Amino acid sequence: MKYGVMRPGHVQIRVLDMADALKHYCDLMGLIETGRDDQGRVYLKAWSEVDKYSVVLREADAAGVDFIGFKVVSEEMLDLLQGRLVEYGVEVNEVAANDLQDCGRRIRFVVPTGHTFELFATKEQTGKWGISNVNPEAWPRDLKGMGVVRFDHCLLYGPDVPATAKLFQQVLGFDMAEQVIAPDEDKTLIAAFLSCGMKAHDIAFIESPESGQFHHSSYYLETWEDVLRAADLISMTDTPIDIGPTRHGLTNGRTIYFFDPSGNRTEVFANGNYHYPDHEPITWTADQLGKAIFYHDRVLNERFLTVTT
Ligand SMILES: [Fe+2]
Repeated sequence: MKYGVMRPGHVQIRVLDMADALKHYCDLMGLIETGRDDQGRVYLKAWSEVDKYSVVLREADAAGVDFIGFKVVSEEMLDLLQGRLVEYGVEVNEVAANDLQDCGRRIRFVVPTGHTFELFATKEQTGKWGISNVNPEAWPRDLKGMGVVRFDHCLLYGPDVPATAKLFQQVLGFDMAEQVIAPDEDKTLIAAFLSCGMKAHDIAFIESPESGQFHHSSYYLETWEDVLRAADLISMTDTPIDIGPTRHGLTNGRTIYFFDPSGNRTEVFANGNYHYPDHEPITWTADQLGKAIFYHDRVLNERFLTVTT
């Protein structure tokens, strides 16, 4: 959090049919609806989050991601970061307060991989869902499905990961927690797992020719048993599965991937590495990419490499 970026604050995901999407994100995964707006967008949060929402669903003709927002510590810091972006040569646009429900102004920009990001400092806080902030119980009893704990990160595919990672590191103060490098002489960066705090990653990029691809949004569970239970629920609901339950080499998380009804990949995972700012990046070499992504199979499935929205 060197420069005041605290955490992933929200992701706006495009879905083809809102009713189907809500079955996936709410009934299966356990996100909680906290609002709707006059554009038809639906706002969701995971139970442990204090902000009003972290996932925004928008019905559209094509699946994918519209933007990802990071929350910064203050409006003053937002001004400062806007200045840093402009100074670095990034074109920024300000989105007015309340364009997203109960959210302050957002500073929006596009990174070299073609993805739209934004920074914001203010969003209504409704507190953890289902438990009090004073003498809290351990967890809310009325969670649906997997009962995901929080929105954790997104993985994005696009071109020019080195320039994108540099922007996140130099302008926004992220650290390279883990990386994959090519076998060439320059050790070209082909995957970047960037952290703005102690997590193994808050945003990740994998090099790919097509701009702006959405690989997955990911949500945190506490234990391997929770991941197994998630897998059972995926089967019970005939939800298309991508891979898992398994372990990642990269980040060391225990994971399962599945698809929402629009084809957007979703991950739930537990545990994994932690990162401090004085840690050297953990490096994986491209020849070990199979093991880096799927630690047990040690081979990548074609779908994981090629299917994005
Ligand atoms: Fe992930």
